[in-house]
Amino acid sequence: MSEIKLPVGAFPPDFAWGAATAAYQIEGGWNMDGKGPSIWDTFCHAKGKVYEDQTGDVACNSYQLWDEDLKCIQQLGLTHYRLSFSWSRLLPDGTTNCVNPKGVMYYNKVINDLIANAVTPMVTLYHFDLPQALENHGGWKSPDIADFFDSYARFCFETFGDRVKLWITVNEPYVCAKFGYEDGIFAPGLKEPGTSVYLVGHNMLRAHARAWHSYDANFRHLQGGKVSIALNSDWAVPLDPASPKDVEATARYMDFILGWFACPVFCTGDYPETMKSRIEARNLELGFSKAPRLPKFLEDEPNPLGTADFFALNYYTSRKVKDTSSHRSELSFSGDQAAEGVTDQSWPVCGVSWLAVVPEGLRKLLKYIKETYNNPAIYITENGFSQTGPVQLEDIDRCQFYQDTLQEIAKALREDGVDVRGYFAWSLLDNFEWTEGFSVRFGLFHVDCYSAELKRSIYRSGREYTAVISNHLSLSLSLSHTHTESNLNKEV
Ligand code: GAL
Repeated sequence: MSEIKLPVGAFPPDFAWGAATAAYQIEGGWNMDGKGPSIWDTFCHAKGKVYEDQTGDVACNSYQLWDEDLKCIQQLGLTHYRLSFSWSRLLPDGTTNCVNPKGVMYYNKVINDLIANAVTPMVTLYHFDLPQALENHGGWKSPDIADFFDSYARFCFETFGDRVKLWITVNEPYVCAKFGYEDGIFAPGLKEPGTSVYLVGHNMLRAHARAWHSYDANFRHLQGGKVSIALNSDWAVPLDPASPKDVEATARYMDFILGWFACPVFCTGDYPETMKSRIEARNLELGFSKAPRLPKFLEDEPNPLGTADFFALNYYTSRKVKDTSSHRSELSFSGDQAAEGVTDQSWPVCGVSWLAVVPEGLRKLLKYIKETYNNPAIYITENGFSQTGPVQLEDIDRCQFYQDTLQEIAKALREDGVDVRGYFAWSLLDNFEWTEGFSVRFGLFHVDCYSAELKRSIYRSGREYTAVISNHLSLSLSLSHTHTESNLNKEV
């Protein structure tokens, strides 16, 4: 019996119950069997970037231990599994000039095994790990990246699209652009405040739109799949709800995180007005007159509007927002945004300081997406709770988190009428948590990344998630039997 309590029948029968991972965080095998290096290999190998100089060289060794991962997936009874492809494992120099057959073999096996076990794969084409060869060519700052990405995406659709029906082009363009090019804390580690962040975000949208159009024109009629882009967002509320400035800053906060990408794709084909006017105003204020910081979408290439077949949302936390527009600041993204998010004292923090646990924020965010972005079908493609310090397999607080979160999703479905299609827990396994290395653990399975065996051991939250899924599936099955029987009776 599940100890996670959920209202009976809260989730639709075909709800996707998943868990997610990303190539660099779990695969290891960083230079095995012809894989080319990625920007995360380079970033981690340069010392001083990651907690204790750890790297994803081995990580969970999923490249060699896929069978163990599959056992975890089977044990949980997942209906869906979200993984990412390592671009440079498939195409070592990033281009289709040279394909790595061993990389193709690896992902073919993963996909075939999933399908043989009735698990639907959702594949992310890009989860932070650009081939280093393309970085050397200018990476996400170069306009050419959209061509390279489109060719890579077509190659994947052609090679795997007969079996993969759910695709994510880019994972969290906000995080890639902001952490990688503004703050310099993620690969490629550039600190170019207030400029590159927008260029990179723009090229990610261009790349995404190209790939979606390629799928739409060449593959959809044959393969019948769906393509989207995974957007991360906090939920934000004004620090002082009575202050019009904080209220306005909250809208801006949301627009600079979610609207930046969601507005072009789901609403207008262009950036939110708040972003355009703030950046313009700051250019004047700071006397910045070089090339436009927020690029424009050109007429002669595919526009991002309408290029998502569902809304893919990564949600972790919430913020209270205060206006900072009167603060003096240099050219920077946060100066443009002019809205600072703080956490509420009453929100528990799990493991890492940024991760205030606010499950009710998810319900509110889902409702906001329904209302702002034209009631899309939504998959929650990531959501999770971290653990630091000594490993606790009896992770009661994480179980509570899953219960609270799933209850909030149930309310969003039943009371707010949000079209939520699935939920992917982050993550299947404890893994390489970017700059935090292995010190922060999000898994449903513990992996001791410091040991040679890399044994997978289920957490209590993994067992409880298993029970949630199996209860849901048996209820759905019994309902469909009742339905069929009553139909038969009718016929008689
Ligand atoms: C997301 C990211 C994941 C994972 C997670 C937890 O931003 O897509 O790779 O690290 O955060 O921090």
